[in-house]
Amino acid sequence: MDFNKQDTVLVTCARGIVPYLIKEAEGLGFSVESEHDTGIEIKATLNDTQRLNLYLRTAFNVLYLLKKFTCRGPEELYREINSIAWEEIIDPKEYLSISSGTQSEHIKNAVFASQKAKDAIVDRLVKKCGSRPDSGAQRDNVVLNLYWKDDTCWLYLNTSGKKLSDRTYRKIPFKAPLQETLAAAIIQATGYDGSVPLVNPMCGSGTLAIEAALIALKRSPGLLRNNFGFMHVKGFDKEAWGKVRKAAHAGVLKKIAKPIIATDIDRKAIDAALKNAQTAGVESMIDFQVCDYRKTTVPKEQGIIVLNPEYGFRMGDEKKLETTYKDIGDFLKQRCSGYTGYIFTGNLNLGKKVGLRTSRKLIFYNARIECRLLEYKMYEGTTKIKVSGCCLN
Ligand SMILES: C[S@@+](CC[C@H](N)C(=O)[O-])C[C@H]1O[C@@H](n2cnc3c(N)ncnc32)[C@H](O)[C@@H]1O
Repeated sequence: MDFNKQDTVLVTCARGIVPYLIKEAEGLGFSVESEHDTGIEIKATLNDTQRLNLYLRTAFNVLYLLKKFTCRGPEELYREINSIAWEEIIDPKEYLSISSGTQSEHIKNAVFASQKAKDAIVDRLVKKCGSRPDSGAQRDNVVLNLYWKDDTCWLYLNTSGKKLSDRTYRKIPFKAPLQETLAAAIIQATGYDGSVPLVNPMCGSGTLAIEAALIALKRSPGLLRNNFGFMHVKGFDKEAWGKVRKAAHAGVLKKIAKPIIATDIDRKAIDAALKNAQTAGVESMIDFQVCDYRKTTVPKEQGIIVLNPEYGFRMGDEKKLETTYKDIGDFLKQRCSGYTGYIFTGNLNLGKKVGLRTSRKLIFYNARIECRLLEYKMYEGTTKIKVSGCCLN
């Protein structure tokens, strides 16, 4: 397969993250042709997808368009896919996985679409090469994504393979961990670049602190992985990929200028966070402490403090949490002067109990839950506002 041929590349992400993904893609020199709720389209080669997979912090998958075609039924799907020169793309020794998303009256369900697409590919390979790849749900080798909407199909080579949110460092998830890509977007939204202290009380399994450390060190998240979908495509040049990785390594800083402090009241959370940070290779960059969030060391200078308290749907009880959110407001006001404070929550009512004026409220989604990243500028003399009224901020 030609790794230098430019085509449409769809980079997918979670809802609410597109603005951060656009910034990242543009930072890598790509211009965004269109944006959707959960992704962006750019023009790129398969070689470019290697850089995208390596550097992007907020993306789920980097999908290289193989074919877009009109399709009004399973037999047409079979014909269109069977006509692609798969013998130039997939070695029969590889393992093939296809996932489909369908929204069309022409197909019963997505599983059937995947089956039909797989038959079209393996039949062609048997005819041309005399053997076929095994296939199934494992996403470690060749991965294809099919989208079928009304009369149109898009067939993509998934150059990521497994989702890029699977950084591989989170060996111990602890309770209600944030997805790594969401944590990276939250840190990006704070503007953090390593030049000021970052304090993360209630750190749980440490995802926010670990993503912050990776950002501060300029360490690409893809350096943590050694397997991507593009590696299993015919024409993959191991040596060229080695150079791309080497260039990414060369940009990594040895240490960070200002501390990252992560604390949690639960010893098990800190054990998990430490283990995860070790796997990510950033444990020496983060000062982990077991303590109530109010006892967290907050360096006396300007910095960023970010908390992701429980929000009552999955853990904790909402009534009890009202006091917690109010107390977090007091803690920010009394202990964090000079800081920009952030609370990430999926419970907007609890957010109002903080009792501080927000300077920004950014929308994110944690799985299906609509969340807010609430920003508070903690100037000297910031006062709390009355919580009993209907409109706070
Ligand atoms: C929603 S979880 C944070 C998840 C984290 N962002 C992650 O990605 O793993 C909230 C954390 O707050 C911690 N916590 C609850 N009350 C606390 C308190 N008073 N002081 C410090 N930590 C507390 C819990 O132990 C839990 O780990």
